[in-house]
Amino acid sequence: MRIDVVSLFPDFMRQCAAVGVVGRAQQRELLQVETWNPRDYATDRHRSVDSSSYGGGPGMVMMIEPLRTTLAAMRAAAAEPVHLVYLSPQGTRLTQGRVEALARLPRIALLCGRYEGVDERLLAHEVDEELSIGDYVLSGGELAAAVVIDAVGRLQDGALNDAQSAEQDSFSDGLLDCPHYAKPVHDALGSVPEVLLSGDHAAIARWRLKQSLGRTWLRRPDLLSQRGLDAPSRALLDEFRREHASRRPTRQDDATG
Ligand code: ADE
Repeated sequence: MRIDVVSLFPDFMRQCAAVGVVGRAQQRELLQVETWNPRDYATDRHRSVDSSSYGGGPGMVMMIEPLRTTLAAMRAAAAEPVHLVYLSPQGTRLTQGRVEALARLPRIALLCGRYEGVDERLLAHEVDEELSIGDYVLSGGELAAAVVIDAVGRLQDGALNDAQSAEQDSFSDGLLDCPHYAKPVHDALGSVPEVLLSGDHAAIARWRLKQSLGRTWLRRPDLLSQRGLDAPSRALLDEFRREHASRRPTRQDDATG
């Protein structure tokens, strides 16, 4: 898969895409990340990419022309058609489902705004989809683009070492992930749940699903209402609730109220 990033901070974007799973995916040639700086396509002697906003008010807006030529060069750099995503707080909220759909495309491009954003006319003509990574405002689209690159890059076939880990991710089945434990078995902070040491794969799978259901019920009940539960899952969640009611409170209870 190829991801083109249009950004005034191409070095930052390249560095983000060079580390961890995504960096490895690039080394394995599963993913190619290219950057395009609109400033390189500005024509005046100040290499301007922004101007003040018509109608007044503070803040600058990214102009059409440098972006239009940047996007034309970007589109022409490879044969595949590009699905162009603009990152902004006004976009549709990014979900794992959307990430999975983007990861199946051969080529996407990420347009990162700065200042107050991008001239609306350019967005209307060029952009296929506007995405937000959450209900908060960043000072530019770069961190959001880095989030998309990571989430999409790790889903490329062969990017993750353990083929199963993407399937076990939070959200991949509409539930949050279960708790995980590393060495040692016993510690002053507590012991690893016994079932995980039993070697009984069916019992472990049942425990993990119960924890996933329980966590989702506690932390993201909205996900449970969207997903719905079959009868066995409902019974497992009831079991979790009974156990939860009789356990000692933890710090997380304070944090979440
Ligand atoms: N740019 C600024 N804030 C953003 C957000 N929350 N999501 C995506 N892009 C953004």
